[in-house]
Amino acid sequence: MKRMKWLWLFVLLGFLLAACTDDEAVVKKAVKEPVAAEADEPLKIGFAMDTLKEERWVKDRNLFRQAVESHGVRVEITAANGDDARQIAQAEEMIQKGIDLLVIVPHNAEATAAIVHKAHKAGIKVIAYDRLVKNAEIDLYVSFDNEKVGEIQAEAMLAKVPKGNYVFIGGAPTDNNAHLLKKGVFKVLQPAIDRGDIRIVYDQWTEDWAPENAFANMSEALETNGNRIDAVIAANDATAGGAVEALKVQGLDGEIPVAGQDAELAAVQRIVSGTQTMTVYKPIQTLSERVAALAVHLAKGNEFSAIDSINNGKSEVPSVLLEPVAVDEGNIRETVIADGFHTEADVYGGD
Ligand code: BGC
Repeated sequence: MKRMKWLWLFVLLGFLLAACTDDEAVVKKAVKEPVAAEADEPLKIGFAMDTLKEERWVKDRNLFRQAVESHGVRVEITAANGDDARQIAQAEEMIQKGIDLLVIVPHNAEATAAIVHKAHKAGIKVIAYDRLVKNAEIDLYVSFDNEKVGEIQAEAMLAKVPKGNYVFIGGAPTDNNAHLLKKGVFKVLQPAIDRGDIRIVYDQWTEDWAPENAFANMSEALETNGNRIDAVIAANDATAGGAVEALKVQGLDGEIPVAGQDAELAAVQRIVSGTQTMTVYKPIQTLSERVAALAVHLAKGNEFSAIDSINNGKSEVPSVLLEPVAVDEGNIRETVIADGFHTEADVYGGD
């Protein structure tokens, strides 16, 4: 009888031990599994865009998505249609959902500082894409040298029109790039202004970079100057398009040199047909690939030390600035067509 009791005791102990080890295994598994799942889960980058209205931003979106995914990283993309409150709300939602890094094309350089503060509170780094965010501790800014864009435009126009009346159709005053470009334009024009060779007869911003606002500004410039205008520098191809439409109303399209930027298809076609003189090409593929690589690098917790920096009113923002390229009728094939930015058939017709 005594022996039986001991036997039962051993059997019971055996059960208890087995149950214990089973429980431990379950607990360990439960703790381990999410960790393993987290490690396997690909990183996610948020891309908060301003607009998709202009041709270039559609290219930016597609190329950026491709570039990020080529690193095995996921990307969520939003576009705010030029609406500040919407852009902030969209970025906030991405931050809440748990992105690992935020890339932003600000509609409004000042208003988007709020997004940067929120991202940083959540431990998320922010890269400014093409346009700088002002008054916030941006982690990195990657763009083209926008001051140089303006310099290139002004140099091309001065070579063509060394003396005469100049119109400047600026970009959106809420976009830091519009200010940088204007600085570059006037840096080059100033000596000619000082010599009395050229006169700035009209100088106006274009709200939201909208072609219809540029059309209205150019119409006003023509009217107030009795059509006596010799050159037009427009801050981008959308505004150049609006300016050319206003010149057309006066029968002056193709008569007065016009500069733009972006190398949009419509602008390159205008160059071929003679109603626009030049544009500035900014290889978007290079920009999107560079930002994607840096975003993934930073999202993985790595450091990056940039050679350039730009002051945004709050700090010296580490910056990567790419080179813009002047395009006129003489180098369309070697630049935008050679790069596959546009096809020969699209530029010259002939299908
Ligand atoms: C960009 C230009 C663009 C403009 C309007 C600027 O910030 O640098 O390429 O044409 O915005 O979207």
